[in-house]
Amino acid sequence: MIGPLDHVGIAVRDLDAAVARYSALGLRPEPPEDLPSAGARVVFLSSGGALLELVTPIAEDSALGRFLAKRGEGLHHVAFRVERIEAELERLERDGFELADRTPRPGARGHRVAFLHPRTAHGTLIELVQETP
Ligand code: CO
Repeated sequence: MIGPLDHVGIAVRDLDAAVARYSALGLRPEPPEDLPSAGARVVFLSSGGALLELVTPIAEDSALGRFLAKRGEGLHHVAFRVERIEAELERLERDGFELADRTPRPGARGHRVAFLHPRTAHGTLIELVQETP
């Protein structure tokens, strides 16, 4: 089954400025991490419960860069924890979700992740996160 909310992803143009702004809000940032497979750099910030993930493109032609060009900064995705990501992908596809990733890929923090297309989730990109021990 789908687990608790893991994090909310926010697309930003200037990662340093965004980290400073969200730190001023009182959140504690972790060190930045590059995700070459997604063409993105991320910083997670903690408020004690679910995390915020600030995400900015580092590749010329990335889905995230196109997202920013089209929709601007703001909410990019919502991520839920799952125990068995392959089984969840199968179940969700059976239930009518369009999978953006047919198989899980390496995500931030060493976890395995997969995305569901916003088309079948009322306009919001959904990320599944399976923690790797
Ligand atoms: Co994420």
